[in-house]
Amino acid sequence: YEIDWDASAAEKGGWDSFMDKEIHEEPAAVQRTLIGRLDDEGRLNLDEVHIDEHDFKTVDKIIVIGCGTASYAGMVAKYAIEHWVRIPVEVELAHEFRYRDPILTPRTLVVAISQSGETMDTLMALRHAREQGSKVLAICNTQGASIPRESDAVLYTHAGPEVAVASTKAFVAQITAAYVLGLYLAQLKGTVFRDEIAQTLDSLKDMPRKIQWVLDTQPSKVSAAARQLRDANSFLFLGRHVGYPVALEGALKLKEIAYTFTEGFAAGELKHGPIALVDEGEPVVFIVPPARGRNVLHAKVISGIEEVKARGATIIAVAEEGDADVERYADVVFWRPECPTLMSPLVDVVPLQLLAMDMAKQKGYDVDKPRNLAKSVTVE
Ligand code: AGP
Repeated sequence: YEIDWDASAAEKGGWDSFMDKEIHEEPAAVQRTLIGRLDDEGRLNLDEVHIDEHDFKTVDKIIVIGCGTASYAGMVAKYAIEHWVRIPVEVELAHEFRYRDPILTPRTLVVAISQSGETMDTLMALRHAREQGSKVLAICNTQGASIPRESDAVLYTHAGPEVAVASTKAFVAQITAAYVLGLYLAQLKGTVFRDEIAQTLDSLKDMPRKIQWVLDTQPSKVSAAARQLRDANSFLFLGRHVGYPVALEGALKLKEIAYTFTEGFAAGELKHGPIALVDEGEPVVFIVPPARGRNVLHAKVISGIEEVKARGATIIAVAEEGDADVERYADVVFWRPECPTLMSPLVDVVPLQLLAMDMAKQKGYDVDKPRNLAKSVTVE
């Protein structure tokens, strides 16, 4: 489809940018990606995915390939799929994958994640995987695009057309689709009991409501933080476990539309070097795991917050409602409603998307059409 960048406000759903509109479509993007994939007994059926069950059952390794935001969705999915299916899941940048002579067998399932379905790096990587005899399943948001057409199977996300160059609703839809795939494999392989699959699907089905809660309650706080931090020269983004790829995605968003220098990294890396970057007033964004159940990772992230706070940083935290430790140390907290750890990326990313959008607006940049970038990178 041709993008009409000057679409009237009506086509932007009354929002002042496609990005704003698409962030606010995220609850529907998750909901629509689930529709038609669960039967009445809560079992998954991926009848539109034409890889036969036997081939799925023999899969002994998954390699997820993608670029940019799509690769970060794959990194989130890695934690969940390995936990459910108990097979190794590697996540590779598509443009690196093809040139490193990867080990591929007929029992390797390659999952190609792409919003546009036209990213040349990802298309060339899936061609290589198929030449080596592996099956490729695409997770794509564009019906009939090159990547799904050249894959053995496709699991479409149903986020609707994503016009803004900075990907937002596609990210949450990609995670949702990857989770559906992971739970389907767990159901086939019997690595997760049926009631746990049903319970996990119930959590997933409840996420649109939780995303909506964030959209209803956090934007004004995010805008205030964007105004306060608009002149910051750089931001650090830190997260652990599934919060780590969310940190990378938050850093990418601010980079690509507010042109702010950012660095996203695993919170555990702080003391291995990056803490040297922390200076007076440096904004540091922490994605904080839930404190519930004496989560050891929560304590470690809080300890990281204390370390950088002691060095004068400005602490912005994304945390679960009511987290008293975070409230004690953070200068700004974007709250998320309580949800299972594996589901938290679907809500944690939202304030980071809004922060990037508001920072770009504060700076007078074109939120939908950032400089130097194209919506789909159709060259290698
Ligand atoms: C997302 O905000 C970026 N514009 C970019 O990283 C994008 O995710 C990447 O180019 C992959 O695009 P695709 O999902 O269409 O393959």
